Amino acid sequence: MATLTTRCLGLEFRNPIVLASGPAGFGLELAERFDLAQVGALTTKTVTLEPRAGNPQPRLVDAPCGVLNSIGLQNPGCDAFREELLPKIAAFPTKRIVSIAGRSPDEVATLATRLSGEPGVDAIELNLSCPNVRGETVADDPGRVRAFVRSARNASARPLLVKLPGERGDLGLAEAALSAGAKGIVLINALRGMRIHVETGLPLLDREVGGLCGPAILPIALERVFAARRAFPESVLIGTGGVSDLRGVVEMLCAGADLVGLGFAVMSDPNLVFRLASELDGWMTTRGIDDVRALRGAAHRGGIHVR
Ligand SMILES: Cc1cc2nc3c(=O)[nH]c(=O)nc-3n(C[C@H](O)[C@H](O)[C@H](O)COP(=O)(O)O)c2cc1C
Repeated sequence: MATLTTRCLGLEFRNPIVLASGPAGFGLELAERFDLAQVGALTTKTVTLEPRAGNPQPRLVDAPCGVLNSIGLQNPGCDAFREELLPKIAAFPTKRIVSIAGRSPDEVATLATRLSGEPGVDAIELNLSCPNVRGETVADDPGRVRAFVRSARNASARPLLVKLPGERGDLGLAEAALSAGAKGIVLINALRGMRIHVETGLPLLDREVGGLCGPAILPIALERVFAARRAFPESVLIGTGGVSDLRGVVEMLCAGADLVGLGFAVMSDPNLVFRLASELDGWMTTRGIDDVRALRGAAHRGGIHVR
């Protein structure tokens, strides 16, 4: 058996497979059908200070090799999350990354303060890149990124991850987040996209724009992770975007991800997601690779050269 244990953020993850924020919800339905010990971590749906109802239907629209989502950060709000959901999440046999988003640095600080002392919060992921809420895309501007991250950092002793958009190819946002105290970066969120109804000629989604995810975005996510690893060799990276099979996991690790997030795949084939760690183990063992560290960032070190 190969070693899949991944140590980063001061935590030990059983394997590098992470359920990305959103499609896994708060993990409760998945926990009824699957063994959460088969994944390295669950990231919760993003939690905001107040409850949010989310966007009008339709919220999911088909796209070639993926889906456009327009959920709009629907969640029960911080207090209900803390009182009703977190005690159940704390019992999950995996690491728990709690995703948060706020409208201002103060709101983010309040969320981080209320949540970071709770059992069941191993790390906090600050979502600065949701494409589905009006006027809130903090990660358009490095100065705002710095202010939000600093605020969350000062309010919480938990390891802080920052989730950035995939649209921007430059590394200014990641640099801003890391220099403001983030321990790691999550790349990428869903990419802004749209579809048009051919009979009305109008956008299919109420907000016109949605977030494209699924296999269609894998090459973009790989490039963003590859570039970030090259620029920040020591930072923690969670590579998310379009990974839907073992090959995608291996590619994301070789590009430089410490951990690999899966969103769309949890909706399209959850059975596969919970088998991926054991598939990775088999793939590595057959090829004589005994530790996942040999894959991580291999594309930057001359590759692995196995068949
Ligand atoms: C239905 C749905 C809901 C999502 N909700 C969130 C969310 O609440 N917070 C967040 O940071 N990302 C959210 N995402 C984005 C995913 O975490 C992920 O970054 C993106 O979908 C790209 O990965 P994928 O191609 O594996 O889905 C959501 C994605 C989908 C499909």
